[in-house]
Amino acid sequence: MINISKPIIGKEEIAAVLKVLKSGMIVQGPVVEKLEENFAKYCGTKYAVAFNSGTAAIHAGLYTLGIGPGDEIITTPFTFVATANPILMQGAKVVFADISEDDFNIDPKEVEKKITKKTKAIIPVDLYGQVYNYPAIKKIAKKYHLKILEDACQAVGANRGKARAGNFGDVAAFSLYATKNIMSGEGGLITTNDEKIAEKCKMFRHHGQSEKTKYEYFDLGYNYRMTDILAAIGLVQLKKIESFSRRRIQNAELLSRGLKDVKGLIIPKIKAEHRHVFHQYTVRIDKDFGHSRDELIESLKKRGINPGVYYPKPLHLHRHFKNQGYKAGDFPVSEQMSKEVLSLPVHPRLRSRDILYIIKTVKGIANEK
Ligand SMILES: Cc1ncc(COP(=O)(O)O)c(C=O)c1O
Repeated sequence: MINISKPIIGKEEIAAVLKVLKSGMIVQGPVVEKLEENFAKYCGTKYAVAFNSGTAAIHAGLYTLGIGPGDEIITTPFTFVATANPILMQGAKVVFADISEDDFNIDPKEVEKKITKKTKAIIPVDLYGQVYNYPAIKKIAKKYHLKILEDACQAVGANRGKARAGNFGDVAAFSLYATKNIMSGEGGLITTNDEKIAEKCKMFRHHGQSEKTKYEYFDLGYNYRMTDILAAIGLVQLKKIESFSRRRIQNAELLSRGLKDVKGLIIPKIKAEHRHVFHQYTVRIDKDFGHSRDELIESLKKRGINPGVYYPKPLHLHRHFKNQGYKAGDFPVSEQMSKEVLSLPVHPRLRSRDILYIIKTVKGIANEK
């Protein structure tokens, strides 16, 4: 089966974990600190702070921006639920804005329509591994004095111009979940150029304690610490990131060349000046394809290819957001995209022959009328 993802765990990752286990220092310690140092260096930011998940990183990011009850945060309904849940965790209100078909991400014009006196921040997502359209959203944020939290959980290594993901907001959040471009099993980091934000993040992940003073609690915090065991995996993966990204990009280019003329199948658009690192290679299957998206999935599975759908239902149609008053029809583009998107395997363990097989199989199904 050609699966949608497969973590790459080499001898180096195993050796690094064993070294930590044998050291006896297995919780947050020097390896987490090294990961933070190297991650910040890679992203080109002054600071990185590690967490035990990307969700925790987003939660901490919102906390450091001062988000709390009564505040409204604008984000996309077409994302993983962990983009929006931390807004609720901070007692604030989730305000969705519809997406554009081009990059499947919030449309700046829709964002501006949703701004009220209570709006405090925007969370754009670098979806599928491509940095969001920041110039437009930054203009809006400046005009209305809003903060930006960049959800870069899917985009480590992506660029816009010379700047890497992690540089586009007041604070950014990454995930090292097992299926991400680099991973540590579970894990996450924030990046920022603001020392105060970095310090507050360190307190938030450690029950509100400063790392300098023990058993003195400055505010409510959580246990969001990463372990040295997992940081050891992340550190090794970080060394391999460029080779992983190059392979993903090559695989994506091959897919696009092979699929660009298939009627009813729309290949991903790469924005000018962007380096898309293809966490997902996501196409759209529209009515001209001759089969529905879900029929295509079934046919692919029968032929040994296991694709993914990110995301089959926009967030506003899930119960805990519906309870806030959202309903079907509120975000027509997101709803349409959730019926059309299909992610084909693109991960770095796939060789050209696997990619050529995917192309041949999709084309074969397209011709079965
Ligand atoms: C867009 C997005 N935001 C947030 C997260 C949350 O990350 P994690 O699963 O590490 O908590 C993920 C990844 O799973 C994601 O893809």
